[in-house]
Amino acid sequence: LKIAVLASGRGSNLQSIINSIEKASLSAEIRIVVSDNKDAGALDKARKHNIAARFIEPASYGSESNYEKAIIKVFEEKGIDLVVMAGFMRILGKDFIEYYQGQIMNIHPSLLPSFPGLHAQRQALEYGVKYTGCTVHFADQGMDTGPIILQAVVSIKDNDTEESLANRILEKEHVIYPEAIRLYSENKLQVKGRKVIIKE
Ligand code: GRF
Repeated sequence: LKIAVLASGRGSNLQSIINSIEKASLSAEIRIVVSDNKDAGALDKARKHNIAARFIEPASYGSESNYEKAIIKVFEEKGIDLVVMAGFMRILGKDFIEYYQGQIMNIHPSLLPSFPGLHAQRQALEYGVKYTGCTVHFADQGMDTGPIILQAVVSIKDNDTEESLANRILEKEHVIYPEAIRLYSENKLQVKGRKVIIKE
């Protein structure tokens, strides 16, 4: 499975995928990491593991659609089978989603459909829910709305801060993201409408 990772930030999810591949619990190859942020830690983490890493600057493409075309071109050159969004702070447009229909995953730090969008951990704390977690899903044109692949639950403690909660959620993210990719790589995910069925 040839993977591309899109990341805007620190890249801890990228690192968890790299670790799974290195441990051989995931049979895949990260062919490229692309970021819209030249200072993304994700780019450094990729380079450290000799993975191609590119900053593609949105401002130099005029429109979001041209920017996405540029990304598609790079991915095409690499023969990408699966696009993994890991802390990528942009919403992909229609053309991109259609081009890689059913081949784009995202991770979000809440139990979707609760708390989509930014600051999901803060939203959960402010709402006062007792449980939150994380969700890996296929990306569609909405914000955090595509078919759900895997979720993990994290309980909220009375003294949690946004940071302490985010850290506990992150531990689970690092488990379910490589697992979702593994299921995909073994052809075990079947999308039926809104539902993702995990085949035996
Ligand atoms: C994660 O919490 C992810 O769920 C969210 O952005 C964060 C990215 O963290 N979409 P990292 O860059 O993978 O460390």
